[in-house]
Amino acid sequence: MPPEETSPPFNLRICCIGAGYVGGPTMAMIASKCPHIRVDVVDLNEKRIAAWNSAELPIYEPGLDEVVAGARGKNLFFSTEVKDSIHAADIIFVSVNTPTKTFGVGAHKAADLRFVESVARTIAEVADSPKIIVEKSTIPVRTAATIQTILESSEKGLKHQVLSNPEFLAEGTAMADLGDPDRILIGGEQTPEGLAAVEKLVSVYANWVPRERILTTNLWSSELSKLVANAFLAQRISSINSISALCEQTGADVDEVARAIGSDSRIGPKFLKASVGFGGSCFQKDVLNLVYLCGHFGLPEVAAYWEQVIQMNDWQKHRFAERVLRTLFNTVTGKRIAILGFAFKKDTNDTRESAAIYVCRDLLEERASISIYDPKVSKEQICQDLGIGPDDPRVEFADSASQAAADAHALLVLTEWDEFRSLDFEAIFQSMVKPAWIFDGRSLLDHARLREIGFKVYSIGKPLP
Ligand code: UDX
Ligand code: UDX
Repeated sequence: MPPEETSPPFNLRICCIGAGYVGGPTMAMIASKCPHIRVDVVDLNEKRIAAWNSAELPIYEPGLDEVVAGARGKNLFFSTEVKDSIHAADIIFVSVNTPTKTFGVGAHKAADLRFVESVARTIAEVADSPKIIVEKSTIPVRTAATIQTILESSEKGLKHQVLSNPEFLAEGTAMADLGDPDRILIGGEQTPEGLAAVEKLVSVYANWVPRERILTTNLWSSELSKLVANAFLAQRISSINSISALCEQTGADVDEVARAIGSDSRIGPKFLKASVGFGGSCFQKDVLNLVYLCGHFGLPEVAAYWEQVIQMNDWQKHRFAERVLRTLFNTVTGKRIAILGFAFKKDTNDTRESAAIYVCRDLLEERASISIYDPKVSKEQICQDLGIGPDDPRVEFADSASQAAADAHALLVLTEWDEFRSLDFEAIFQSMVKPAWIFDGRSLLDHARLREIGFKVYSIGKPLP
């Protein structure tokens, strides 16, 4: 159906700019829950759009295939027709990436808003009726004002409304999170027009989310809440990871400590799993964003407080690689090290900021030879992340965990994929160089059994062997 086509049976048109990990699943859920709304997902990247229109979706997310298959071609469309879709839409979601700046003012902390800005300019240029523009991308506080200024600079005299509607879905559980969210947050200008726009977006979510779970706030509270939610979550992981190092030295077991403190209902059990370090596209970026913001507003103590969450995470990743090095008699040069898991967590093919990238880089620096297996991450992605060519002699790409482990001195578990629990460890042990080491960066495996087989085991936060 051409993007211009309107009306029956649709009573509202939504366009989403950015067909990524956030835009794709979110729009698929809206389309599947709201058959009366036409949803167009557009992206500049033709290859990505072609994949969304094929049987092989560009992202792996449990349950996504079914939801897309059920709505695609009915009220859910993927295309590169950015301008036509903006033109026809009532509500425009902006879900483009906002990477951390790598250069200039705010390098490595501030968000690079060039994509958001260019989208705002395109909307100003194309729209000839008032639109509701929804910030879905995580953005620094007060970005709505930037978008508003760009829109108002257009000479058409149209009054668009900018809303903030941050996404709280976690990858790997995106469809469950979208279908049954803890809360939906919508921020808007506290004017009659702003409140009316908020109400319109509320009515979209109200098709499947109970009203009491849809929170409305002013624009800035909504924008800031996204950063703060991720900062609090990241802080819990850095806190437990700091304790993991202490456990290793004292003989305490970090999983037991986490259970003991998490049973206090004021603390709660979630996000207390010690690990080789958190990854993902959001935590580091959002905490750094918060740090930048605090600096900008003249609050260096607050900035330093939150920056420590990132420093602890960096330290944890290097600490793990260093533990491997020290254990293997201070040299891994020429030794084969098997890496199980490259994604930043299980059930996703996303590797952004994955701890595995840092651990592999440290090992390559020490001239190890590494063999990598991940059930969902492609070889191309790994090469890109490690900055190596496909034929780099130092890195092998295995089709299975046991292939990766054959002839290895050590096996490193870096992602908590379920399938790693049920590997044939007897056979793996036979195929490895002795002493055969397992470094469990996720405290995933049954260590007592592994020791029975003959492995030497190190696990994050467990008393040192
Ligand atoms: C992104 C942000 O990284 C995150 O902060 C925010 O919360 C949601 O949006 P994600 O969906 O995971 O997250 O990003 P990504 O998978 O990179 O998708 C962004 C898409 O936008 C890409 O497919 C890119 O091609 C597209 N894009 C980018 C445009 O269509 N137009 C642009 O101008 C820029
Ligand atoms: C996160 C937020 O959870 C989500 O609300 C937001 O919208 C985007 O950022 P995501 O990055 O997809 O989601 O994954 P998340 O489940 O939060 O995990 C982030 C990282 O923390 C992963 O590397 C994970 O392995 C790690 N982690 C998580 C731990 O190391 N320990 C834990 O206890 C929990």
